[in-house]
Amino acid sequence: MALAGIVNVPGRVNLIGEHIDYHNLPVLPVALSQRIRITWRLRDDSLIRASSPGFPPREFEWTSNLQPVAGGDWENYLRAAAAAYASKWGVERGIDAEIESDLPAAAGLSSSSALIVAVTLALLEANDRHATFEELMDVLPEGEHFVGTRGGAMDHAAVLASHAGSATKIAFAPVRVTHIPIPPGWTFIVADSGKSAEKSGAVREEYNARRAAGAGAPKRLGYASYRDVLATGRAVEMASELHDEREHDSYLHVVTEASRVDAAVDAMQNDNRVRFGKLMLESHASLRDQLRVSCPELDALVDTAMGIGALGARLTGAGFGGSAVVLCEPSSADRILAAFPGRAFIAQPSDGALTRQ
Ligand code: GLA
Repeated sequence: MALAGIVNVPGRVNLIGEHIDYHNLPVLPVALSQRIRITWRLRDDSLIRASSPGFPPREFEWTSNLQPVAGGDWENYLRAAAAAYASKWGVERGIDAEIESDLPAAAGLSSSSALIVAVTLALLEANDRHATFEELMDVLPEGEHFVGTRGGAMDHAAVLASHAGSATKIAFAPVRVTHIPIPPGWTFIVADSGKSAEKSGAVREEYNARRAAGAGAPKRLGYASYRDVLATGRAVEMASELHDEREHDSYLHVVTEASRVDAAVDAMQNDNRVRFGKLMLESHASLRDQLRVSCPELDALVDTAMGIGALGARLTGAGFGGSAVVLCEPSSADRILAAFPGRAFIAQPSDGALTRQ
């Protein structure tokens, strides 16, 4: 049994398929080269102690009945990991963890899921347990609910199972990952809107409300799930049967976004980046007008990128602030980066935490 070690977990940027993972519809993210790194040391007791530059140190006793502490405290992410772990493997020995990150927080790049995944993997390694991807996926998305956001399972799957150079098509229930090689010359840029999307704060309520708004629509239409609705081939026409405006609009976002993911995978497989860019723009418009999760800063970012030659751009992640993802020709990348000084970078599609280099 190792007494100390290091785990690395990347962030992710979602290329397309937004706000549909929690309805069990496929999405298409990539893992980033920016990561959370935990240097851990096994303890003799069940304390979990963590330090991270810029955050107050935290320490708690790992028990089988952990409760959240005050909202907004980063200890909740540590507790979420410990609770997720305990739900499958019980309470074991704790760790001292030094956490470092070059992944921007509250930027829509999944820093919170990456942290929960990293703490879970550190506890597993420290206790000499080997968990499969499927086992981790059984407990991690549920564990995040501990923090109060009823998110989907995209982030955990992307940061665990992605492959360098590929986009990760993730299907749910059961979770299944397909690696789609990104053709040479496709350049994705991530640009921060400057508006923070702190998921443990006010954004949480908005996020949870969007999830709830679309969730009842399939049943109201007489189907068990969105997958069944989509299988009819008449999903868009059926929107007229929904009379609550919020529900109608959320439903329309979900069913149109699902077809955009299929079309985007097809465009990537056929090296058609112009088509992929158009689909990204349509996705942004739907997130802005139907689901209403954009904000003026993100809309301006998309407009600016398109105005200087991008092929497509859209908000990424939960929205309400955070980042946009931009697709461009390699020759336009410098111009686009220069338009967002200090807050944009070229995404390097990277390996997930379980992918051994
Ligand atoms: C957040 C959630 C994800 C997903 C996105 C929106 O990042 O954690 O599960 O729902 O929002 O696509």
